[in-house]
Amino acid sequence: MFSSRLPPQTETNELTRVLAGLRAAGTAIVDLTESNPTRAGIPYPEGLLTSLGQPGALEYEPHPLGLPSARAAVAADHRRRGVDVDPAQIALTASTSEAYSWLFKLLCNPGECVLVPRPSYPLFEHLTRLEGIRAEPYDLEYHGRWEIDAGQLRTAPGDVKAILVVSPNNPTGSYISAVELEQLSGVCRDRGWALVADEVFADYPLDESQPLTDIATKSGVLSFTLAGLSKSVGLPQVKLGWIVAGGPPAQRDAALAALELIADSFLSVGTPVQLALPELLRQGAGIRTAIQVRTRDNLQALRDAVRQFPACDVLRVDGGWAAVIRVPATRGEERLVLDLLEREHVLVHPGYFFDFRSEAFIVVSLLPDAAVFRDAIARVLRFADC
Ligand SMILES: Cc1ncc(COP(=O)(O)O)c(C=O)c1O
Repeated sequence: MFSSRLPPQTETNELTRVLAGLRAAGTAIVDLTESNPTRAGIPYPEGLLTSLGQPGALEYEPHPLGLPSARAAVAADHRRRGVDVDPAQIALTASTSEAYSWLFKLLCNPGECVLVPRPSYPLFEHLTRLEGIRAEPYDLEYHGRWEIDAGQLRTAPGDVKAILVVSPNNPTGSYISAVELEQLSGVCRDRGWALVADEVFADYPLDESQPLTDIATKSGVLSFTLAGLSKSVGLPQVKLGWIVAGGPPAQRDAALAALELIADSFLSVGTPVQLALPELLRQGAGIRTAIQVRTRDNLQALRDAVRQFPACDVLRVDGGWAAVIRVPATRGEERLVLDLLEREHVLVHPGYFFDFRSEAFIVVSLLPDAAVFRDAIARVLRFADC
């Protein structure tokens, strides 16, 4: 009855069943997969959302790529990172996920292909399938830091239209380096691919280094950087994201004109949030700092804790809201994660959820409350180490 864009019906997996059973029995679970900042005890300023109720929001004057004032606010926000973007290069969307869907409509015919990193964010399979296109993986390899081997891209299928990078990647926390960007730009130029850079976590470096960001403004080929309020100011429920288009001006402007047509067919971004955007971005700085303090403190606590457990180790992570722990592969990821849940009442993600090529890895969110995180991590490491 329904289209093949939907994934085949799959059985609920055992982890979901066990979790539902424990919750139904009233068992308190510590959720180290929590990536929703509104559920992590992050302080939000009082009155933060009052700007959503401005009288001007009663008028509807749609602009497909976004109100000029809102696009200018996004451009002004880029100056925090020393980046100059013309508001004309910006398209507003309701979320980063929607930005992906618009870019897939822009770049791919049905059945064509985009390259997606592996391991990475598991939503790509759905987002591509729902657009009637294919996601083909390329591998990130870990040699003390996660790297793209640009050589593997030479064998990519002939119908690839774009390569997606996530920087910093979720969950590996690796930013694209300047060398990798140069290599990727070269491949894109040779093969006629666009570069799509998901930089939703770019504002969350986990140390004082200044990683490469704002890839669309630096790549030299047709490129798009995606980001939004969901991560940059911890407001996923407010629903506003953006695409910054970059590259050779003629190609970039043609892409923006086509995006305008796509956006005009949906007009999905609400007027209240666009009018509120300058104020949300202004007040968002404090929320961002609170999240940054939390993730850095939790990472430090994790690194300190893991020293007591020589069989486990925390992989290098440079940014984002997650950390990857390598654990002994004695019982397999799936069994380990189930046992942790059933016996220790701690929920973590197994590496296979993000398509890690080998076992055994577990992924933890760095967002939870610091005391809760520290206690749960000690239990996880004790359990995984024996
Ligand atoms: C790498 C990455 N991109 C995009 C998103 C989705 O962002 P949005 O809420 O703006 O759709 C997420 C959400 O976790 C993510 O991890």
